[in-house]
Parts: sequence; C-alpha cells; structure tokens
Amino acid sequence: MALLSRFGISLPKDLLADFDKLIAKKNYTNRSEAFRDLIRQELVKKEWEEGEDVAGTITIIYDHHQRELVTKLMDIQHDHGKNIISTQHIHIDHHNCMEIIAVRGSAKETQKLADTLKSVKGVKHSTLGMSSTGKHIR
Ligand code: NI
Repeated sequence: MALLSRFGISLPKDLLADFDKLIAKKNYTNRSEAFRDLIRQELVKKEWEEGEDVAGTITIIYDHHQRELVTKLMDIQHDHGKNIISTQHIHIDHHNCMEIIAVRGSAKETQKLADTLKSVKGVKHSTLGMSSTGKHIR
C-alpha cells in the first residue's frame, strides 16, 4: 500500500455540507475516498487534454437493418484497428444493436475515432467513456 499523507483542507461550511450530501448519495463511506476519486478524475482528464496514451470505451447504438450503416461502421473500425482492443456486439432487440468498443491509443486518435463513429448517419446514440491505462493513476 502507498504511503499516506494527511493534510487539512479549509472549506466554507455550506460547501462541505453540499459535498457530504453528494458523497452520501454516491455511497462513499468517508470523505477521503471521495477526495481521492475527485483527484484521480482530474488526473485522467489531464491525460486526455494532454494527448497521452489513454484507454476507454466507445458505445454506439444503431439499427442493423440499415445495411450501408453496418458496412460503414465496420470499415471505420477496420481503418482504426491499432486503436481497438476488442469489440462486443449485443443484439438489444429485433432492430437495435449495441456495440461496445474498447479503445486504447493517443487521446487525439481515440477521440477522433469516437467522433467519426458518432457522426455516421443512422447512429442513434454514442458515448465515449474516457478512462485511463492506469499507468499514472495511483
Ligand atoms: Ni445486433
């Protein structure tokens, strides 16, 4: 386990009360773990902003009856093979498919792949889960 440092934080009372309410809703059992997660979130955000090696997931929802759309999504994924770690395809119902694409690479390339998939006509919804390789997060 990493060495722990303790330090005090001065906060307006109202802000601390709001923070306590927020973390209770999110099921944190103490403030320290909530603060650690906030710091980690900022570090991951910095990784994306500074174009480092990042990891994440792209989730897309589309109707597989649109054959041209399916082909286009497949072509894009083949063109970005070096950034795609794995793909999971889930048949949600008769019409709708969900694809969860695990990605890794430079933040710029990964964001571009997510934007390219999202902009394809017929994609109903798309999200980019911006995560980290974990290398620089403690
Ligand atoms: Ni499907």
